[in-house]
Amino acid sequence: MSSSDAKKKQAILSLVREFGTLQKKSPFVPGQSAIPYGGRVYDENELCNLVDSALEFWLTAGRYARKFETEMAAYLGVKHCSLTNSGSLANLLAVAALTSPKLGPDALKAGDEVITVAAGFPTTVTPILQHGLVPVFIDVTLPTYNVDVTMLEAARSNKTRAVMLAHTLGNPFDVAAVKKFCDKHDLWLIEDNCDALGSTYKGKFTGTFGHIATQSFYPPHHMTMGEGGALFTNDPKLKRLIESFRDWGRDCWCPPGVDNSCKKRHTQQFGELPFGYDHKYVFSHFGYNLKVTDMQAAVGLAQLKKLSKFTEARKKNFKAIHEGLSKYADRLILPQATKDADPSWFGFLMTVREDACFTREQIVAHLEKNRIQTRMLFAGNLLRHPCFDPLRKAKTGYRVIGDLKNTDRIMNDTFWVGVYPGIDAARRREMLRAFSAFLDGRAR
Ligand SMILES: Cc1ncc(COP(=O)(O)O)c(C=O)c1O
Repeated sequence: MSSSDAKKKQAILSLVREFGTLQKKSPFVPGQSAIPYGGRVYDENELCNLVDSALEFWLTAGRYARKFETEMAAYLGVKHCSLTNSGSLANLLAVAALTSPKLGPDALKAGDEVITVAAGFPTTVTPILQHGLVPVFIDVTLPTYNVDVTMLEAARSNKTRAVMLAHTLGNPFDVAAVKKFCDKHDLWLIEDNCDALGSTYKGKFTGTFGHIATQSFYPPHHMTMGEGGALFTNDPKLKRLIESFRDWGRDCWCPPGVDNSCKKRHTQQFGELPFGYDHKYVFSHFGYNLKVTDMQAAVGLAQLKKLSKFTEARKKNFKAIHEGLSKYADRLILPQATKDADPSWFGFLMTVREDACFTREQIVAHLEKNRIQTRMLFAGNLLRHPCFDPLRKAKTGYRVIGDLKNTDRIMNDTFWVGVYPGIDAARRREMLRAFSAFLDGRAR
């Protein structure tokens, strides 16, 4: 870049920085301003990175994406991070990678069973079905909202090959029990960390325990790049497979714009191709193109620098709301961290007690009327959704162990409110005021 171009770029970026600094947040008016469950928290640094990557006009995954992958992996303490376009696609790629014929007899194949839960987000389960695998559903426990590990053995059959679970709304599942089960029976573990970035279990970040873990960077999540996701693994072979499926199914692993990373580009034999066929165009899988753009990664990189602060803010909000609501524990089941876990909660989960003299719908309506946004625990019980109608009717394609009583309970009585870093002391006060206004007059 010529020095006059560099100067122009600096002038643009300093204007962008000024623009970002001048952005005024509208003042919070209790009772009138909305308190969303989540949202983007950013400043001029994200804007500058975004514009910088736009001016560079590389567009596809480039230097920002590589830097993000390196820094994210270092942050978590995992060997490899591969970016993709969403948490759902990260889950798809995680399952796809484990079907690779390159894994030999360890590869997942149609008809194999994967143990999971129905209380959560659909795309933890979707890729299992999309690959002809059979999800086996077990119940969760309250008030951790995570897999009931006492059901794992009952769910196992001679077809069980993997466990795929999310850390529910940031609360780590019982990693020790799940890992012990997986190790004992030689099962793959896919850890959906989409809602739990920054949570720890026995002092170690979640997202580092599974053979593959997945992440979402959709705006309300712990950090964002608009649309975005990632996969983490310590296994270089799995990283190669993930990126092959992500990048058209190719055998070559050159980053965009680079040739001959393998140093054998024209000197190898593949399948029935002529000897020396260009490795860049050798396809070992039926893959996709699920790469990110460098603009997304540039935003993510600025967010990553804020992640520790975001985590602190989430924990602080959670603690304050928990303390404020503890006097209503006879009416609301309050959330509880899994033993040995320190969650960075995605939200504050509550279940209306069976003997409370109000329903979830009533308290949710009251909070929404007071401009406090609420959410369900996503699908509640995924099996009761229309997407499961054909499978339910055909009585095939999945198995259920036990009665999923708590999963149904969650579908009927559970909801959550935000703890995201955009919530400050004034907003917390307003949230607690609204809860009190509803609950004080409604003793059990
Ligand atoms: C547990 C879980 N997994 C996966 C996803 C999907 O992430 P994305 O929205 O980035 O596709 C979500 C979405 O919030 C989620 O909660």
